[in-house]
Amino acid sequence: MSQNNVQIRKGQVKVGIIGCGEMGAMHAACLNQIERVKLIGVCDTDRVKANALGEQYGVAVYSHYKDLIEQDKIESIYICTRATSHKKLIDYALKNNRHVFCEKPLVPSPQDIYSLVPRIKENKAKFMIGFNHRWAPVVCKAKEVMKKYNFRPLIANFIFSFPHFLHGYQGTVEEGGILQSLGVHIFDLVRHLLEDEISCGFCFLGRLRLKDPYTDDSAVAVVRLDKNPTLVTLNFHDHCSPSYIEEKGRTVHVELFGSDGVIKIENLTTLTAHFDKSTASFNVGPYDRMHSWGYFAEDNHFINCILRGVEPTPSFRDAVLATLWIDALKQSALKNKIFTLCKHELILNEMQLLHKY
Ligand SMILES: NC(=O)c1ccc[n+]([C@@H]2O[C@H](COP(=O)([O-])OP(=O)(O)OC[C@H]3O[C@@H](n4cnc5c(N)ncnc54)[C@H](O)[C@@H]3O)[C@@H](O)[C@H]2O)c1
Repeated sequence: MSQNNVQIRKGQVKVGIIGCGEMGAMHAACLNQIERVKLIGVCDTDRVKANALGEQYGVAVYSHYKDLIEQDKIESIYICTRATSHKKLIDYALKNNRHVFCEKPLVPSPQDIYSLVPRIKENKAKFMIGFNHRWAPVVCKAKEVMKKYNFRPLIANFIFSFPHFLHGYQGTVEEGGILQSLGVHIFDLVRHLLEDEISCGFCFLGRLRLKDPYTDDSAVAVVRLDKNPTLVTLNFHDHCSPSYIEEKGRTVHVELFGSDGVIKIENLTTLTAHFDKSTASFNVGPYDRMHSWGYFAEDNHFINCILRGVEPTPSFRDAVLATLWIDALKQSALKNKIFTLCKHELILNEMQLLHKY
């Protein structure tokens, strides 16, 4: 029946997962808790991983992505493989009219976006990118408080600090190192929380810990927003000792300073808001990765959007913008220059033709 004049379709959404590593397992666990989802099958080129996840949820197991995507019952595909395979998998899933949830980053380089644009344009299926921090309860609460107090920050600081992880695949040149692992997340969070676009900025990149064959493990940037006069600093790296992280997810810190207040997000669990002489602290529940990082809420949103026939967020356009900004940051660091997006105006113009994205 309808809610807010939107028809909600009956039945369960039938889902398949490609990639049975860390994120495939995380999304399987979230989807398993959503009543209106039926997990149909999982796929991994590594048969041991596919079997383990398939057995855990009692679903069919595939080793080739085409076999899962073409399976008659499947309506929606979760792409939980590494970025270098995303373009091929998105393309094939959309070609078969499957709704697509794709883990971040969209693709490793802006050049990969061009061939996806026509596929997205011609397709009625839903697409969502896995910028999960948008759906973290603490971020949702911050947006609510900012709206309530009509709060506009003048200065903002964003920090993503993780324990060493870039000696794994994410630190490789092909997978993009710190820019693709954390950079896309932090850029999307800036755009989402501050409800503005980035107009220009400057970035330093460093490989401060890792050796060959890895790429950068550290980034510091300053950016200016477009509509509002806000100045933003960002730093993201993997130099955190495990004891700092503890079990509390001390990974994301945000400080927003306005002329009439300060809002602070700590550890993805606590929000403090200081307005005039009053201080309010919000604890958004006990820390657990599935909920505190927003994974459960993002999956619930995606499924609801399919059931309601509405477009999910963050969208394909949000994924493209993060990819373009990451490339612009890289160019800034390489050329020692302030960056803007002008080089990629073509892609953006193309994207603006898409009403739904
Ligand atoms: N949103 C987040 O917080 C977050 C966190 C970690 C990773 N990620 C992203 O999620 C994606 C997956 O990361 P991960 O850490 O789970 O990787 P992973 O290496 O643990 O798992 C990926 C799996 O995909 C399989 N695979 C690769 N190509 C395949 C193909 N063509 N067909 C079928 N299976 C294939 C691999 O065998 C592997 O088991 C990456 O893009 C990564 O950047 C997101």
